[in-house]
Amino acid sequence: MRVTPLTSLLLALSVSVSVSAKDSRTFAVNHFYGNGPLTMGRMDPIVDPGRASSHVHAIQGGSNFALTMTNTSALDSRCTSSLVKADKSNYWTPSLYFQDPVNGSFISVPMFYMNVYYFFEPTDDTITAFPPGLRMFIGDSFMRTPPPGGPGLVIDLNLGTPQPIQWTCPRSNYDIPSYPQDSDGLHGVGIQDPNNMGAGVGFPDMNCDGYASPLRADIHFPSCYNPAAGLSDYKNNMQFPSSNGTSDGKANCPRGWIHTPHLFYEVYWDTQKFQDMWTQGQGNQPFILSNGDRTGYSLHGDFIAGWDVDVLQHIIDTCNTGTAAMDKCPGLPAGGLNDPSTSCNIANLVPEPIFGVLDKLPGNNPPTGWDNVEPTPSTTSTNTIPASTAVHGWSHIGCYQDNPDRVLSAIILADLVNVTSTGCIAYCNIEGFTMAGTEYGSQCFCGNSLYGSWPISHTKCNMKCEGDATETCGGSWALSIFEKKSG
Ligand SMILES: *[C@@H]1O[C@H](CO)[C@@H](O)[C@H](O)[C@H]1NC(C)=O
Ligand SMILES: *[C@@H]1O[C@H](CO)[C@@H](O)[C@H](O)[C@H]1NC(C)=O
Ligand SMILES: *[C@@H]1O[C@H](CO)[C@@H](O)[C@H](O)[C@H]1NC(C)=O
Ligand SMILES: *[C@@H]1O[C@H](CO)[C@@H](O)[C@H](O)[C@H]1NC(C)=O
Repeated sequence: MRVTPLTSLLLALSVSVSVSAKDSRTFAVNHFYGNGPLTMGRMDPIVDPGRASSHVHAIQGGSNFALTMTNTSALDSRCTSSLVKADKSNYWTPSLYFQDPVNGSFISVPMFYMNVYYFFEPTDDTITAFPPGLRMFIGDSFMRTPPPGGPGLVIDLNLGTPQPIQWTCPRSNYDIPSYPQDSDGLHGVGIQDPNNMGAGVGFPDMNCDGYASPLRADIHFPSCYNPAAGLSDYKNNMQFPSSNGTSDGKANCPRGWIHTPHLFYEVYWDTQKFQDMWTQGQGNQPFILSNGDRTGYSLHGDFIAGWDVDVLQHIIDTCNTGTAAMDKCPGLPAGGLNDPSTSCNIANLVPEPIFGVLDKLPGNNPPTGWDNVEPTPSTTSTNTIPASTAVHGWSHIGCYQDNPDRVLSAIILADLVNVTSTGCIAYCNIEGFTMAGTEYGSQCFCGNSLYGSWPISHTKCNMKCEGDATETCGGSWALSIFEKKSG
């Protein structure tokens, strides 16, 4: 057959039609190689670009990872810790420490290994490679209470409030459950997934002694990208697909959105190393995330896409090697795999001690959670609930610690007359910020992230607003924080 431009276009179309709708799930696990992760340190070019981030992360992927990244910098990496050379994306999560129950020292828990599952799930949409530079973030670094979606996994909008973050505790047997059956998730230990005794939300109180499988962080990313929000708007650009109105369990994205692979991070931490240094089954446990979270609820993950899109699209369309891994996908470019006896690593760009025994967590993050859980509001509380719904799309997220460097520092309107939380939110909204905070009855702050802060008891936000005594405006070094939600 003579291939004219028109017939070649039709051939291309018929190929893309044959791969667009998927009736059953295929997947391939992306494996990493080399000495440890690519790097570790207080680095987060998505949430805290251009400066030290508040807590240590473990980072995998392309060597151009940096404090500030453009849309294409990952693509120019000289090497990658991903076995498949065409993947120069970066993947990161907070790191884990053990707090010695005897003397309070913090000891870094080595990363055991990380896998990233690329799931291609049943859908009527065309699953499309990540555009280079796409930034994704999932989870909530400030969470210290059980997630609103409940302890089970929910990654389909049709099945409830998304709940994509869990811990898995592989064990040789579950005669004693990993989480006490009556745990409310507020008193020293998390809650078991009702459908999976191996998993739950928050940290379990048993040692995870599974074969080659210690405590594991599980993070699912949404797979619907909204190009109208754009590559960089990580707070709003992604959403979980929905099976509403579909058949055969297919889940689709909203019209005009791009259906990307569903990424699932598994990060194993070598917690077995510490098994003789704490007592199991006591309703508490000694591990702490690098941000100071003792509960484990604030686990989160970040991603910047740095794929050769043709190679990833080929994998999406043709590969189903499952746990035998992506490096076994047929038809990868010749010479396209790294030699697993080599390693791709870069320096910590925020040089400071982060390994071994430490007096304090790097970034000086105080331990929070469990004891600091907000008490149930008592009827005698003089607290008024801050106005939060007066500005569309904004809501109150809690009371947070401030410090002399100021947590929200983009715009500071200190000691104004007649400050109210409603007025502060309206002002920050007009100025284009996503967070507003009021403090000391009379101060208004705007910004985009709660850098170096943590949730404190709502009783610390106890001052009436000077402009309206029915609203609360923080307290002494305590911010009433409001956030503009996605959508
Ligand atoms: C990435 O590209 C988009 C346009 O496609 C632009 O709006 C955005 O600012 C860029 N992000 C970065 C971090 O350079
Ligand atoms: C605390 O105990 C650990 C061993 O569990 C030890 O390495 C560390 O030096 C101790 N810290 C202090 C301050 O004594
Ligand atoms: C499912 O779609 C129907 C029709 O569009 C809508 O009325 C309903 O609220 C949706 N349900 C969920 C859970 O989104
Ligand atoms: C501040 O608000 C109070 C009560 O609403 C009002 O009486 C006062 O005039 C206001 N002051 C200014 C400077 O707007």
